[in-house]
Amino acid sequence: MDGRHPSRVRGLLWASVVVVPAVALSGRWHAAVAQGGPPPAPPSSMCSPAHSGPTEDISAPERFEDALRTAVSPVNFGLRIAGTAVHAHDGDPMSAVMQDLLRHLNVEQHPCLQRPFETRCGLSVNHPATLGVSLYEFNDTETRLTGHAVQTEVAGICLDDACIKITPVAIHRPSFESMPSSSSRHGGVAACSYQLIPGGSLASIVGAMATVEEVRNLSALAAERGTVVTEYGVVVRHADRTWRADVFRDAILPIPAENTPLFCNLTELKVAGLDSYAEGLSAKGDPTSAPRRLPTLKTDAPGCTFSNGSPYSGGPDGGAVAPPPGSRTFPAAPSFLHVADADVNGTVSLHCSRYGDLLRVAASSAASTQDAVATGHQGANFLSRVPPLAAPIEITLLVVTAVQGLFTAFVLLFDRPDERLRRFEATYRQWRDRAPLPLNDNVIVPRRERNVPRAVLLLLVIIIAIVEFLPLVVVVIQEAEAQKWKGVFAHVDLVVMMPGSIGGSSTSLPQPLSDFPPVPSSVLAAPAAGLPCSKGVSFVLLPVFGVARHMHTRLVPLAVTLAVVLLLALLLITLRVALWWYASLVAEEKAARRIGDAGLGLAESKLVLL
Ligand SMILES: *[C@@H]1O[C@H](CO)[C@@H](O)[C@H](O)[C@H]1NC(C)=O
Ligand SMILES: *[C@@H]1O[C@H](CO)[C@@H](O)[C@H](O)[C@H]1NC(C)=O
Ligand SMILES: *[C@@H]1O[C@H](CO)[C@@H](O)[C@H](O)[C@H]1NC(C)=O
Ligand SMILES: *[C@@H]1O[C@H](CO)[C@@H](O)[C@H](O)[C@H]1NC(C)=O
Repeated sequence: MDGRHPSRVRGLLWASVVVVPAVALSGRWHAAVAQGGPPPAPPSSMCSPAHSGPTEDISAPERFEDALRTAVSPVNFGLRIAGTAVHAHDGDPMSAVMQDLLRHLNVEQHPCLQRPFETRCGLSVNHPATLGVSLYEFNDTETRLTGHAVQTEVAGICLDDACIKITPVAIHRPSFESMPSSSSRHGGVAACSYQLIPGGSLASIVGAMATVEEVRNLSALAAERGTVVTEYGVVVRHADRTWRADVFRDAILPIPAENTPLFCNLTELKVAGLDSYAEGLSAKGDPTSAPRRLPTLKTDAPGCTFSNGSPYSGGPDGGAVAPPPGSRTFPAAPSFLHVADADVNGTVSLHCSRYGDLLRVAASSAASTQDAVATGHQGANFLSRVPPLAAPIEITLLVVTAVQGLFTAFVLLFDRPDERLRRFEATYRQWRDRAPLPLNDNVIVPRRERNVPRAVLLLLVIIIAIVEFLPLVVVVIQEAEAQKWKGVFAHVDLVVMMPGSIGGSSTSLPQPLSDFPPVPSSVLAAPAAGLPCSKGVSFVLLPVFGVARHMHTRLVPLAVTLAVVLLLALLLITLRVALWWYASLVAEEKAARRIGDAGLGLAESKLVLL
């Protein structure tokens, strides 16, 4: 080895030390030039999930809105072809969140649920955005529950990129009179209207999901929506488990027939809080004592104009009147006014018109997957604990125990009780330091002396009876509780329509800043489109709201058994006491006679008394 090689190596090292940073710098410079100054703003086609979880105190209604926002975000589903219906059910958190919302509003105390058991109460059955209502009725011998449920289909839409504004939408079929052929009547075209409520806000989806209403006449409701009621059933699950349903789904809502339609700039309208639905609630849904700001007739709805150009300022023309005085704290549906989106060429309007009709049909087919849920099949859906019923084996054991107690009492009281009493007496006298009683019929034992061991024996019998009957008493109380129990269950599924990207989404995708890690040239040539935003994503919520109670409890036979057992125990004790009483009478009489006869025993008995 000579010295040249090390110097060459050193030269290379030096070269690399100078060149590599230079190359790196020039790369930076090129990148900076390519960048043209500050990094580009994220292109409008890129969206992030609205929320990645609550960050502060969040009330149940806010949590519901947040969960819904996340559930319908396209980020949840990745890239999909526009017009893909995504069915989110079983296992998504929406049901649990909705149950929390209903618990928060203490919906089990709702006046509708206080009416007779047969009353059908559902969520937002009369809302103009409701596309279908189904009434279920079930008898289930396995869960031993009977009850009924109301399924509704409520459509909603996101009005902005992050879906902060989220509101119900009524999906109508537009008039096709002018269309050339009848084939164009089907699919792909919808007219969407929004619900303005008194006070000039858009209806709240949380309010819609928390509004419990009675279904008075399903046929009338269906007729209003241009459809008819069909009947399912009776469907036999197996043996005596049956259900039936009266259903209308997939209603084609008629276009609202206002003379001069009202158009609103949806970006300027607020979405109502729960306070505009219910007295005694804050906008966030917390109880409040602040007086409700009653909406006046002459409220401004910003950005709303009539189609003839005149500005809207509420009033009789608009039809927005104050909601009828509802019950306190429960959201009551305010009266609605249909308005159209003024931005007729905007994303929201385009998405809703293009996919609304498809969504309507997709929601209807998704709704038909809820039979099991609507017939009380899932115990987890109950808002409060279902009181347990006693199992047959449990009942057998309890009855056996009670009979055993009865038998023990009988043996103690009637099977040679005198021996037992004498033993007690002996123990008692020993304890009191007295001489044992002579086993002699001629002795008159004073009643008090005789009664102590008898009382001890009775006490023993009573304690045994209490211990042995107690389980039966507990079960009777439990069954009585179960007999009067009525429970509410709730569940929600979701169908979301993927809007895909409509027009111009390929604009300004980001350029990679460095060549490492290398991006395949094929990907560079055709990068994936950015995730679509939530704006214009429409969805249908499928809430099920039901009531159930126990079909039949074993309260009557159990109560009768308990009564009989108690009566028998009482009878045994009474009989024993009566026999004792009679025996002492006889004994005293006999003794008295003997004293009268001989006058002898007196001395002896006096001896014992001392
Ligand atoms: C329900 O509505 C239908 C149609 O409007 C009507 O024919 C029927 O009598 C109503 N039923 C009840 C019980 O009111
Ligand atoms: C459930 O049971 C009740 C009472 O026995 C009966 O009137 C009703 O028709 C039954 N319903 C179904 C769906 O079987
Ligand atoms: C709606 O209002 C927003 C903001 O006020 C405005 O930028 C937009 O142009 C309006 N859209 C229409 C269709 O008037
Ligand atoms: C919507 O777009 C169509 C065609 O591009 C145009 O004729 C119409 O005037 C637009 N409407 C509004 C309200 O901007």
